[in-house]
Amino acid sequence: MMTHDIASSVAVNSAHTDHQQVIDDYFKALYQRNVVLKVDNLTQSFDQGGSRKVILKEVSLQIHEREFVCVIGPSGCGKSTLGRIIAGLDAYPSGEVIVDNERVKGPSASRGMVFQGYTLFPWKTVKENVMFGPIMEGRSKSNAERSAREWLDIVGLSKYENHYPHQLSGGMKQRVAIARALINEPKVLIMDEPFGALDPYTRQKMQKHLLDLWRNIDITIVFITHDMDEAVLLSDRIVVLKANPGEVQDIIEVPLARPRHPDIVTDSQFLQLKARINSIVHNPQPEIDPALVEMPDIPRMTPLDTYK
Ligand SMILES: Nc1ncnc2c1ncn2[C@@H]1O[C@H](COP(=O)(O)OP(=O)(O)OP(=O)(O)O)[C@@H](O)[C@H]1O
Ligand SMILES: [Mg+2]
Repeated sequence: MMTHDIASSVAVNSAHTDHQQVIDDYFKALYQRNVVLKVDNLTQSFDQGGSRKVILKEVSLQIHEREFVCVIGPSGCGKSTLGRIIAGLDAYPSGEVIVDNERVKGPSASRGMVFQGYTLFPWKTVKENVMFGPIMEGRSKSNAERSAREWLDIVGLSKYENHYPHQLSGGMKQRVAIARALINEPKVLIMDEPFGALDPYTRQKMQKHLLDLWRNIDITIVFITHDMDEAVLLSDRIVVLKANPGEVQDIIEVPLARPRHPDIVTDSQFLQLKARINSIVHNPQPEIDPALVEMPDIPRMTPLDTYK
């Protein structure tokens, strides 16, 4: 007869095996999906202080349809540079970036972008902001308006369609920005620290909202962040960039079942995983942005005895 201890350890082991099986099946199915974004041997350099500095070096990635990938790495390692190139906002001198089988040569409706800074047109209402893409595409005003209303409904902002951006909170502005990007039905949505300026409570709400959206919409997301909790909570895989030059240090599968609730950030499995990823990110110790290393000494500008 099994003792209680053995019985419970068998139960724990079989739960572990079941969990592992779910995760294995999930990633097996993920890798069988089409590659929607391919970055191949991408290198980017900029003139800095009179010399050419390599920012991204031989970056290669393959991201599958409906995948949620986070890109993390120290400040200045080239995350935004990578995001801008994928979005088609910056040219790249060497390598290939292919989205939906087409080489990225400039901005296109196949790639949506949401930035940290609120980039809504301040003179347009919420609805007009969301209508912007369809109007630019030549759709009629009434058609664009209908789509905008649908998207505002999805992000829960129907009641605010006639508000102006300055009348909204930060989280609401980012929901408008997401609706404005998704209305164009992009294949890939690139988000560069979209919740970086939000307070922790709103940020958590927005993470949950984004996960719900992603679950219900056919969209591949490349999400740039330096928040480890955010990366683990959201991602299927995490791309770790190291700095100077920005190279792919590791690509980590996140073995957490979905759907995930923001509360999992306090689970032991979540914390263990975060510790493991932390050790990858900080080993070897990343070299940080030279501008941070070379912090200037600030000269005293008021007489020393001003405040006593
Ligand atoms: N257009 C540009 N011209 C010159 N240098 C640039 C340009 N864009 C970015 N850089 C430099 O490239 C490096 C990487 O910048 P990037 O903004 O991609 O970093 P990041 O990883 O997004 O940092 P953070 O986490 O602070 O947002 C920095 O040293 C930056 O100064
Ligand atoms: Mg950045």
